This record gives sequence, structure tokens and C-alpha cells, in this order.
Amino acid sequence: MTDQYAVFGNPIEHSKSPSIHQAFAENTGQNMQYTKQCIDIDGFVEAADTFFAGKGKGLNITVPFKLDAYAYANQLSKRARQAGAVNTLIKQNDGSILGDNTDGYGIMLDIQTNLHWDVKGKTVVILGAGGAVRGILGPLLVAQPAKVFIANRTVEKALQLAQAFSREGNIEGLGFEQLPHHAADIIINGTSASLAGDLPPVPEAIIGENTQCYDMMYGKKATVFMQWANNLGAKNSADGLGMLVGQAAESFRCWRGVLPGTQAVIQHIRASL
Ligand code: ATR
Repeated sequence: MTDQYAVFGNPIEHSKSPSIHQAFAENTGQNMQYTKQCIDIDGFVEAADTFFAGKGKGLNITVPFKLDAYAYANQLSKRARQAGAVNTLIKQNDGSILGDNTDGYGIMLDIQTNLHWDVKGKTVVILGAGGAVRGILGPLLVAQPAKVFIANRTVEKALQLAQAFSREGNIEGLGFEQLPHHAADIIINGTSASLAGDLPPVPEAIIGENTQCYDMMYGKKATVFMQWANNLGAKNSADGLGMLVGQAAESFRCWRGVLPGTQAVIQHIRASL
């Protein structure tokens, strides 16, 4: 009986997750099936119940259901609690459902293992203070940056997030215009502004010749944020495709006990964009 996995979202048509997990399954010799399902906005619980009552062993959860999945899980991992959201559900041997969050693992895998950017002892600036940023702060702080600034349009949200993670590291919330006017080591764009082709009003002095810039968004060509950073002379820039594949790899490990390689899969998905 083939174990079933799926990603739940709405919309879901353009999800890369089935291709990514199919590649992982082939590369690691795992017998499993992974599909995508578009779920009615009010239908999450019913769809998850039906899935897990059958052959379903695990789910990825994407927009807009990460909070529904958080509420649905019988137990939560530490990183799910820190993130306040669940992107991975795991059916355990006793039938109960564990909620986890692998987004932070995904971005750190990409930044540290694939891109070889050093985080320890560095100054990291994060743009945005929404759900996506909250999801990565725990794993980022585990990598021991010297200082993390969270800059957001709505300053209050940046302050709240910094407060929530204050015991995990040296972290400060502020507005874009309050960012230090000197070069940061790493800048991570976690705002959804670039979806509309916008850039947050960040001081240009924050980019120096050694600054490395990461956009949690990805696309066929360099994102607006990457182009801005490159034009200002940043050392390098990367988009979030590696984060997407990295979070999928960690979900796969949670379900199957094997961590698949990501580099070849990133290249494969990149070529299909
Ligand atoms: P996500 O799940 O993608 O994080 P979210 O929780 O709605 O979505 O958060 C979106 C983030 O992008 C927020 O930090 C938001 O800033 P506000 O908290 O001030 O709303 C940020 N954002 C969205 N559009 C933006 C824009 N045009 N300029 C700057 N920041 C923007």
C-alpha cells in the first residue's frame, strides 16, 4: 500500500511541491505518492480528516491554511510553536497528528549549506515582520548571528516579533528609516512587497561590497530586491527557490527518515520556471 502525501492550499495550481517530492522520492528510492489539493477556504478540517483517515501519512500546508494546520495538530514541535504556524503535518504511529514547521530550516539550509554564507557573528537585517519572517527567526537565531534587525513598515509588528524572540538572541525591531546607515552582512527580504514589484524604503547605505542579499520570493529572473541589491554593489544575491526546496527536504525527512539532497532538485526546478 503506497503511502500518500499531499500539499493543501488555495490556490494550488502552480505549486512546485509535487515535482520536488517526486524527485526526492526517486533520488532516495522511497515508494510514495505526492499530490496537490485545492481546499475550500472553509474546508480544511474536513479535508485533513478525510486524508488522514485513508492512506494519508503527511501533508504540506501552504497559503492560507498554516494557522488552520497549527490548530488542527494534536501536538506541536518547538519550531512550529516558535513560528506560530504549521507547514508540515505528520501522522504518527499512534494515529495522532504532529504539526511542524520546516520553513526556517529550509532557508538556513540554503544560506549555510548551499550558498556557504556565514551567519555566526554576522549582522543580519530582515525586511518584513509577517508570518513568513516569524517562521524563520528561531532557526536563524540558532545559527548565532551577532545581531538581528527586524525592520517593518508597521513598526509595532517588528517590535512585537523582536520581543517574542528576545530570549533566543540579540534582536531588535525598528522601522525601515531607523535602520543603521552602514553595510549589513546579510539582508533577508521577507516582505510581500516585491510581489507587486515594490521595494521597502531601505537606506542604500545598508548595502556594501560584502553584503549578501536573500529574497524569500523567487521567480524566473532576479527579483526586484535582488536587482536593487546588485545595482548597489552587493557581494551577491539569491532568491528563495532554495528555501522552498530546503523546507520540502526537511518535511520529507520528517515523514520518511531520510534527508534528500537539494542541489540537483533546485537546478531542475529552476530550469522549469
Ligand atoms: P507573509 O505570510 O508573506 O509574511 P504577511 O503576514 O501578510 O504575509 O506579511 C507581509 C509582510 O510584507 C509584512 O511585513 C508587510 O508589512 P506590514 O506589516 O507593514 O503590513 C510587508 N509588506 C507588504 N507590502 C509591503 C509594501 N508595499 N512595502 C513594505 N512592506 C510591505
